[in-house]
Amino acid sequence: MRGIVYNGTETNLVTGLELRAPGPRDVIVEIKAAGLCQSDLSYMHGLYPVPSPGVCGHEGAGIVAEVGSAVTLVAPGDHVVIATLTACGTCEYCADGRPTACRATLGNWSQPFTLDGQPIYNFAATSAFAERTVVRDVQCVKIPRDVPLTSAAIVGCGVVTGMGAVFNRANVRRGQSAVVFGVGGVGLNVIQALKVQGATTIIAVDTVPEKESLARQFGATHFLDGRRDDIVAAIGELRPASETAARGAFNSGGVNWAFDCVAHPQVTWNALECLDWEGTVVVIGVASQTAEFRGLYGRLTQVDRGIIGCRYGSISPHRDIPRIIEMYRRGEVMLDELVTTSHPIEHWADAVHELESGAVARGVLTF
Ligand SMILES: NC(=O)c1ccc[n+]([C@@H]2O[C@H](COP(=O)([O-])OP(=O)(O)OC[C@H]3O[C@@H](n4cnc5c(N)ncnc54)[C@H](O)[C@@H]3O)[C@@H](O)[C@H]2O)c1
Ligand SMILES: [Zn+2]
Ligand SMILES: [Zn+2]
Repeated sequence: MRGIVYNGTETNLVTGLELRAPGPRDVIVEIKAAGLCQSDLSYMHGLYPVPSPGVCGHEGAGIVAEVGSAVTLVAPGDHVVIATLTACGTCEYCADGRPTACRATLGNWSQPFTLDGQPIYNFAATSAFAERTVVRDVQCVKIPRDVPLTSAAIVGCGVVTGMGAVFNRANVRRGQSAVVFGVGGVGLNVIQALKVQGATTIIAVDTVPEKESLARQFGATHFLDGRRDDIVAAIGELRPASETAARGAFNSGGVNWAFDCVAHPQVTWNALECLDWEGTVVVIGVASQTAEFRGLYGRLTQVDRGIIGCRYGSISPHRDIPRIIEMYRRGEVMLDELVTTSHPIEHWADAVHELESGAVARGVLTF
């Protein structure tokens, strides 16, 4: 079968990929659609400390083809979104509904594929850029058959990461204000979740000015060009400390929440600088493991501000994915509109160029 393999230096579409048989708790999924997330590019650029050669892709949906002997959660023919979390189900974090902290979800590398006899790793326990993949039963979340699989695919990462950061990790209250740096597949979902939560000032920032219309479509009330070097001052003008002063004591004024969907030191600096009293930066973007950011201590202590990270929207897949699908079916959140383009897998390089240019909400590969 076909799949996209990163070999440690370059990425290619290969044929002749073979997949092992399912173990008792495994599920073989026939992938129908898979979104290209910025994290896939990071893997292809060697930014992550994970092994290669590996089959790329971690944002997929498809149809269950085969199940292991002990699987009862799904059956052949079921439509599923694949979650990347291989949660154990029994540790204190799983029991508490917080499987993103389950230690069993880290470093889950195996070699379920072979190419010309050579073992090939999976990526993010998922490998959605292949015609078929093998995942654990707990990773398969069954969805109604009327949900287009191209839209369902991006739920597997971009949607849950963005919405979950707002619904689960942050505590956004009605009437609050937020800035979202990076209006991509993740940032747009932060924006639409902020709208659902009742945030009334939602400032989107992106270095690609064409992102303004998408940002506003998803609920942004303001858009700022991220290439401006006075971005903090511009946010201060929108949320001044008082009628007479843009900034107050300890740099107050500004927003309650800043979502960093980029993870660049300057962006994280700006995110902290534009917070109001008690504000919080939520870092969602992933940089290399040795990348550093800096900030002023004086922005934190006396004003109860904080910086927190958020992995995979802090979601519990079997609770949160059905809820998001239900909100979509009721028209409360958009999924179809997130799919700007879809490409058959042989044109995967077009999807990479589109993501690199910042032109798309999401590009999806189809099989
Ligand atoms: N925390 C998690 O679990 C998790 C999950 C998925 C993705 N991510 C990470 O989140 C980030 C966003 O992913 P994505 O798929 O939405 O990417 P994307 O490429 O779709 O979107 C990123 C956006 O940021 C914009 N941008 C780039 N530099 C900027 C800057 N300096 N200021 C403002 N905007 C800027 C780009 O133009 C683009 O629109 C990536 O770092 C990705 O690896 C994290
Ligand atoms: Zn666990
Ligand atoms: Zn992702």
